[in-house]
Amino acid sequence: MMVARIDVRSLSKSFTLHTQGGVRIPVFAGLDLRVHAGECVCLHGPSGAGKSTLLRSLYANYKPDSGEILVMHDGAAIDLASAEPWRVVEVRRRTVGYVSQFLRVIPRVPTRDIVAEPARIWGLPGEEADARAGDLLSRLNIPRRLWSLAPATFSGGEQQRVNIARSFVVDYPVLLLDEPTASLDAANRQIVIALIREAKARGTAVVGIFHDAEVREAVADRLFEVAQFQRAA
Ligand SMILES: Nc1ncnc2c1ncn2[C@@H]1O[C@H](COP(=O)(O)OP(=O)(O)OP(=O)(O)O)[C@@H](O)[C@H]1O
Ligand SMILES: [Mg+2]
Repeated sequence: MMVARIDVRSLSKSFTLHTQGGVRIPVFAGLDLRVHAGECVCLHGPSGAGKSTLLRSLYANYKPDSGEILVMHDGAAIDLASAEPWRVVEVRRRTVGYVSQFLRVIPRVPTRDIVAEPARIWGLPGEEADARAGDLLSRLNIPRRLWSLAPATFSGGEQQRVNIARSFVVDYPVLLLDEPTASLDAANRQIVIALIREAKARGTAVVGIFHDAEVREAVADRLFEVAQFQRAA
């Protein structure tokens, strides 16, 4: 039997606005989603449907109201909805990678170190982590003269490519992508498409938000309509 890399069961999430009279905003309820190794699922639906909320929940950035988020980690299913913080850190280190829409720039840290960091944390020797970081930066067309600089002054597209390099430097079994190609030109978009396809071929389970139809068609195996799980307040 094939075990899903991600198995979301009856997940419900609402936000409570404590500073605005405790108004409750339901986002989704009873949501089920399974993603297998080598599969890419594209979260779909209108603005406000809850795509980003679901993706962040899968990275345990948000605490769901109820339900389970089972992720295969070291051969065992871990429920990220109820996992202790230290366990979440473990799962993020070795199993689940996440490309946010924008790079969180750390002042004064050189680009190459930012990209190599997840590989070092994952356990690769420093030289190998640096070599992998260099390969990805080259592939993503970040000129070598920029590698020793902090990305704070980089363009939006350059920062996004550094962000992508950082998340592909480790072969995570699960990859979560929030509009990874939003600020890229056509040539770099193709490179990201190739990276995602290679990850799928290695068996990575991918969940992403891709507004670009070209990217979606090139990488997604199926669309997942988030809005179908909307519930009234
Ligand atoms: N941190 C938050 N606090 C309160 N409400 C939130 C929060 N994040 C999202 N929401 C609400 O949850 C709903 C879903 O938002 P979400 O960002 O997940 O939508 P989306 O499908 O990603 O939309 P878009 O395509 O515009 O990015 C919206 O109504 C939004 O106002
Ligand atoms: Mg969004």
